[in-house]
Parts: sequence; structure tokens; C-alpha cells
Amino acid sequence: MLDNKVVMVTGASSGIGRTAALRFADCGAKVAVVARRQSEGEAVANQINQLGGTGVFIKADVAKEVEVKSAVECIVEKFGRLDLAFNNAGVSEPIGSLTELTEANWNRVMDINLKGIWLSMKYQIPAMLSSTGGGIVNMSSIYGQVATGMGVSAYVSSNHGVIGLTKAAALEYADKNIRVNAVCPAWIPTPGNEEALSNPDVMEYAKSLHPMRRLGTQNEVAETVCWLLSESASYISGQAISVDGAYTAQ
Ligand SMILES: NC(=O)c1ccc[n+]([C@@H]2O[C@H](COP(=O)([O-])OP(=O)(O)OC[C@H]3O[C@@H](n4cnc5c(N)ncnc54)[C@H](O)[C@@H]3O)[C@@H](O)[C@H]2O)c1
Repeated sequence: MLDNKVVMVTGASSGIGRTAALRFADCGAKVAVVARRQSEGEAVANQINQLGGTGVFIKADVAKEVEVKSAVECIVEKFGRLDLAFNNAGVSEPIGSLTELTEANWNRVMDINLKGIWLSMKYQIPAMLSSTGGGIVNMSSIYGQVATGMGVSAYVSSNHGVIGLTKAAALEYADKNIRVNAVCPAWIPTPGNEEALSNPDVMEYAKSLHPMRRLGTQNEVAETVCWLLSESASYISGQAISVDGAYTAQ
């Protein structure tokens, strides 16, 4: 499905990013595993290589322009081009009222979740334009579409912003053979929420929020992103695709 495509995945050292990186490799792509954590990122790239694919680890913080620029340059130097990207890196803030949120909390969430995606596209798009075009999927969330996640106002704001930015980018590059979409998962068990979901009461409550009465899986998100990046989705751009067990249909 992604044969010989060169794909950049941010936040690929764990969770959904890691699962997606492995899935892309399984679909034939050469994968740039971009992450801040060296040993975890290298482990993902090594796993891809051991499975017969091509993976390379590149250390970068998506909130830092100089590091994002250098990551994209490094991919082009290594593989000769960049075709696809999954801009997945993200964080949330401590749960609490927006009146208790600190400026540092707000800035961190916005810097990584929203500015990080803009910076990533700022350097990915010229690289894609210099070959034959490309495809991008940006990580948003159900909280990019609704604000039912009480006590995470910065996260909700950043994820709504990602959908706006995705639409703007899709329109700007629609006639230049670059498709840009967002993916909006509901609650997915990952290392990022492992601690909270290890409490059986929280897990039962989380399931009860979803009409399918279960949480989604990292594979279900990775599969959707893989399809969106593939030629099978060649006429889809500027969309926010929910992977949420009907959560936002409520
Ligand atoms: N798990 C869920 O329920 C869920 C639902 C919707 C959206 N999301 C989003 O999916 C993405 C992946 O989350 P996850 O649940 O797999 O969590 P995770 O914590 O396992 O993964 C997040 C990844 O992003 C990386 N990262 C964080 N800040 C970074 C930075 N500045 N530069 C580079 N990498 C950075 C982390 O190191 C980690 O590898 C996040 O953007 C998250 O907001 C998660």
C-alpha cells in the first residue's frame, strides 16, 4: 500500500506513533522514526530493520524549528526525498480548570501539539514539492471536534487548531498534489494514558463514554492513517477523520 514511499513519523518512540511506524514499514514504506527519546526511538527503527524493513531514527523536538528543519533535511539526505508524513507527537496538560492552568502548561501544549504540526508541515511540504507531491496526516482528537474532555482546555484548543490548520494546508496545496488530513481518535490505551486506565473504575468509565462500549486500539488508528496516506484515499483532503467508536456521533 505504501511501497517504497519515504514517510516521516513524529512522536514515533511510543504509543500510536510507534504502532503506525511499524505498520507503515509493513506496508512497504521506508520510515523515519522522529522522536526526542534516543533509546526508545532507536529501538523502533531497529525493530523495523530486524523485520526486514527500512527504518532510521532521527532525534528531534517538534516544538523547536531548528530541530524540525534539520530532521527533514536529514531524511532528504538519507532517502533522496520525502513522500509522506504522520505528524503525531503530542501531549496533554494536567487535568484542571482553565483558571488554574499555568501559562507554562498552556504554552507547552500549544508548542508541541499545534506549533509542532505547523513547523513539521513548513519543512515537509517544500521537500514533498521538490519531488512529486505527497500526503500528510496530522494528529488531532475527538477533542478537536467536541470539548467534552473536561479540564483539558489547552488540549481541546490545540486539537481544534490542528483541524483548522489541516484545512488551511489542504486548500493551499490542493492543486499541487499534496493531500492533508487529520485523524481524530477517541480514547486509545497507550503509554501516554496507561497509568490512568490501569484503574479499573476509570477504564469502565472510559468505555461507557463510547457508544461501542470499548476503547479503540492503536492498530485501528494506524490502519486509518495508513489508508489516508495511500493512493486508496487519493481524492480525500482537508478532512478530519474520526476513529472513535461513534463518540462524536452522540
Ligand atoms: N491515546 C489517546 O487516547 C489519544 C486520543 C487522541 C489523540 N491522541 C494523540 O495521539 C498522539 C500520540 O499519543 P499517544 O497516546 O500514543 O501517547 P504517547 O505518550 O505514547 O506518545 C506521544 C509521543 O509523542 C512524543 N512527543 C511528545 N512531545 C514531543 C516533542 N516535543 N517532540 C517530539 N516528540 C514528542 C512522545 O515522546 C511520545 O513518543 C498525541 O498527539 C495524542 O495527543 C491520543
